[in-house]
Amino acid sequence: MSVTESHARHFEINRLNWSDRAALHRADTSGMYGIDDFRNGVDVLSAIDGDEIGDVSGLSVLHLQCHFGLDTLALARRGAHVTGIDFSSVAIAEARRLSEETGVAADFIEANVYDAPDRIGAPVDLVYVTWGTICWLPDIIGWAEVVARCLKPGGHLYFADCHPVAACFEEIDGIIRPTYAWRTPIDAPLSFEEDTSYAGTGTLTHKQSVEWIHPLSDLVSALMQAGLSLTMLHEHDYLPWPLFPCMERAPGRLFRLPDCVPPFPLSISLKAAKPA
Ligand SMILES: C[S@@+](CC[C@H](N)C(=O)[O-])C[C@H]1O[C@@H](n2cnc3c(N)ncnc32)[C@H](O)[C@@H]1O
Repeated sequence: MSVTESHARHFEINRLNWSDRAALHRADTSGMYGIDDFRNGVDVLSAIDGDEIGDVSGLSVLHLQCHFGLDTLALARRGAHVTGIDFSSVAIAEARRLSEETGVAADFIEANVYDAPDRIGAPVDLVYVTWGTICWLPDIIGWAEVVARCLKPGGHLYFADCHPVAACFEEIDGIIRPTYAWRTPIDAPLSFEEDTSYAGTGTLTHKQSVEWIHPLSDLVSALMQAGLSLTMLHEHDYLPWPLFPCMERAPGRLFRLPDCVPPFPLSISLKAAKPA
């Protein structure tokens, strides 16, 4: 991806915002991330990715946008050799600290996702991308190329995230309403200002973040254009965080809509393979 001036500005807005969030999230005062559970040996992957990912033992895994490394270390505990990448220096420092504290080994690299192919030593068996990822990235075609370049021939991508249709809605005055267009222009992202984060206590110094909604067809087409073949595509009426305030806890570290709301897909998961 050629980094335009607007991409660079948007990356910087998000990097500062995510560094603030990483410090709050790592404290996990709300317990949302389950760091104490992880310390106590619990597998903290949600029932969606945790069940679908399959046996990762012995695989080389690249975790893109690893945040403070919790899921990276959960994969390592399942026996994978994992490298986590994130562009926030705070997130990477916290990830290394969590690895040391828990004695679960993984490598962490501070880098923009779009630089991943040049920063990892060798292509991997599995690229793992889950929960709060491509919405921070402007260029979905460039992202799919990154994934393909990071994979060994015969390797595969596992992806799970918010459903792009669900991302178009907000709960306003107790009613879930369509609020955002289903495709965000690459140079005109949605912009948000928040004082606090969804997990942890304390205020954000860098309050602005910018996001993109990428339609499902753009995601799948980008993967196909990058030479990957779709081997699984699922939609779920569950999500590992309460996207809308009305959502209720469900088993498996998930949240669901209350019975009074007709169910609609809240998340997608897919696997895509690089030809052997
Ligand atoms: C919601 S968190 C991802 C959570 C992740 N599922 C996990 O393992 O906890 C989003 C992460 O993406 C990172 N990020 C956003 N844009 C990025 C980019 N262009 N390159 C690298 N990391 C990025 C942020 O720093 C943040 O840590």
